[in-house]
Amino acid sequence: MAYATAAVSHPFNQFVSSSSLSSKKYPSPFIPKSIFTSTVLVPRHFPIPPLLPRDTSSFRRRKGRLYDPCTAYVSAPSTDALVEGDSEISTSDAESSMGSAVSWEVIFPLLWRNKLRIAVAMMALAGCTTCTLSMPIYSGKFFEILVGRRADSLMNMLTKLGLVYALEPICTIIFVLNMTTVWEKIMAILRGQVFKRLLIQKVQFYDSYKVGELTGLLSSDLGAMKDLVSDNISRDRGLRAFSEIIGTIIILFTLSPQLAPILAMLMLSISILVAIFKRNAIPIFKAHGMHQAEISDCATETFSTIRTVKSFAGEKHQMWMFGNLVLAFQKSATKLGVLKSANESLTRAVVYTSLITLFFLGGKKVMAGELAIGTMASFVGYTFTLTFAVQGSVSTLGDLRGTFVAIDRINSVLSATKVDESLASGLKFSKGMSNHKLRALYEEEPTQNNIPLTTSILKSGKEWCSLAWSGDICFEDVSFAYPSRTDVEVLSGLNLRLKCGEATALVGASGAGKSTIVQLMSRFYEPTKGRITAADEDIRTFDKREWARVVSLVNQEPVLFSVSVGENIAYGLPDETVPKEDVIKAAKAANAHEFIISLPQGYDTLVGERGSLLSGGQRQRVAIARALLKDAPILILDEATSALDAESERLVQQALVHLMKGRTTLVIAHRLSTVQNAHQIAVCSGGRIVELGNHVELLARNGQYASLVGTQRLAFE
Ligand SMILES: Nc1ncnc2c1ncn2[C@@H]1O[C@H](COP(=O)(O)OP(=O)(O)OP(=O)(O)O)[C@@H](O)[C@H]1O
Ligand SMILES: [Mg+2]
Repeated sequence: MAYATAAVSHPFNQFVSSSSLSSKKYPSPFIPKSIFTSTVLVPRHFPIPPLLPRDTSSFRRRKGRLYDPCTAYVSAPSTDALVEGDSEISTSDAESSMGSAVSWEVIFPLLWRNKLRIAVAMMALAGCTTCTLSMPIYSGKFFEILVGRRADSLMNMLTKLGLVYALEPICTIIFVLNMTTVWEKIMAILRGQVFKRLLIQKVQFYDSYKVGELTGLLSSDLGAMKDLVSDNISRDRGLRAFSEIIGTIIILFTLSPQLAPILAMLMLSISILVAIFKRNAIPIFKAHGMHQAEISDCATETFSTIRTVKSFAGEKHQMWMFGNLVLAFQKSATKLGVLKSANESLTRAVVYTSLITLFFLGGKKVMAGELAIGTMASFVGYTFTLTFAVQGSVSTLGDLRGTFVAIDRINSVLSATKVDESLASGLKFSKGMSNHKLRALYEEEPTQNNIPLTTSILKSGKEWCSLAWSGDICFEDVSFAYPSRTDVEVLSGLNLRLKCGEATALVGASGAGKSTIVQLMSRFYEPTKGRITAADEDIRTFDKREWARVVSLVNQEPVLFSVSVGENIAYGLPDETVPKEDVIKAAKAANAHEFIISLPQGYDTLVGERGSLLSGGQRQRVAIARALLKDAPILILDEATSALDAESERLVQQALVHLMKGRTTLVIAHRLSTVQNAHQIAVCSGGRIVELGNHVELLARNGQYASLVGTQRLAFE
């Protein structure tokens, strides 16, 4: 049975090998771990309700919102958090400011790698320009032969013209092909590098930007850079236009120093006209682009929230919003049209004035025998060459300016932050990337900015794993405020010991900080004070990627990738090829096997975007199977069953019992009935643990836990 490699729509599919099921192996989608860890977060970005007017000006850096990462995951956040012997930690810095993502320092080595192709392209450019500029001269001589002013043979002249006509397109092909190949190679590497830089940011970075802003860096901003070459490679743009202007001026002054100033004036006037046009058109262009983005945003939001739209009978409102955006788009398009036509007609007027002046002055000189008629004809030809070249050059300069703005935007987002060096150095090994072309996208040229910092004090993964299997997890006087809201202390001096191999339940009111504890345990954030230890070792001394391997997180809304069910389970081990038997074993232990084999294509059934083709309980069981396959010693269940009905909950609970066996588990649940069998229950309130004990002890104490239980009983009665 052939193994279908699943959803074509999923961007990660490109990483998924197309091996078959018959080989009994599941290709584990090669996706860097950090994607996995970030997807289990509660949504950071809430869709803006359709009724609210929205600010769609994209890519604005929101001042003050970008966290200045003053805490490091290796460098100690505070001296009082460190115990003796931790001095090593405080002196090392595992965050790294990597400098500009796109800079000359990055691009030059890439250009240098392609020096041969660039040299060939430059020679071809010289060939193209020579051919183009010699055409008016040969045409002039051809007319002189026709009117009997030149003794050369007609055939001889036709051969020369034919040669120029044949050479020009050949040189053009060589120039365009080489320039495009080199630039596309460079752009592919830059895309890979920017994507990687976005991926290795600390979690607080993603709190500061909308998803659209980050994807915009990869699509529009890098797109502007790509277009700089692809849009300026034609004859009347970019390097060709520049070289034609220089060549034309030299030729004109050599042919007739008296007539050349007329064309120089023409060049000046056209430059001024195009510059004025550009200056006026840029704001309209920007508005036009923004309206286009708004139209696309509106459509995306409408269709992604279609059930909500329909449940509120909001079709009319959405049509009203869409219609207004379309009208605004149309208005800016019309304005652009008016400007373009004004520019076009003024340019023509300037060209015709130049021609008339040329005919008048040149004609007089030809009549007086001071100028050859062929030279006069050549001048007419150069009028058009110069017009197109000047127009193209000014446009290219505008594009260049736009590209610098885009590069600046990329750098301002990526250079201001400090990446997670642990992730960065882990990804440098490019595990699993056997394809050398793919690996080349992510390998960086060593520059002053990206020399990896030492992570030698980090303990190895094996060492860490055995500690995690055998030691307690301890929160020691942990305080924490979210980087985006530093003035609100969510945890203050929290102490908690999660006993090895036992289950600890965490209960408390909504907003008490339970999920925040989970985020700290997952090392998405670092405590602002205090420390978390595993077997008495500060967890910051361990590699973050290795840490991700020892913690499994199952939360209320598990996110599945839009690949097959089997591949989603195999994602528990993203760097490895997982045998199908292991996937089935995990699915069986998670109570998922039965429903999976009843799906149309069994384990090969696609689960849809974010797993939308499965029910909540099914999604949850696939997530549990994924966690079982991961076989991590520490398990976190954050409201893992709260979104389920009674039957699904029963099935998921059974699966969780398997999963929790022998693991150090932290369970968070609002339904207290689901946590009363835990070895210990901790009540979180006011940013600290206020009560600790088992169900019976806490009830006897008659404190906050007892009142929580009482409230829930009342609610059921
Ligand atoms: N990314 C964030 N940035 C800033 N503040 C946050 C962030 N996430 C949570 N908070 C705030 O931290 C506090 C604790 O939130 P947390 O999610 O830990 O509560 P919780 O105990 O899990 O609540 P619930 O039981 O409702 O899930 C809340 O006041 C919340 O507004
Ligand atoms: Mg929560």
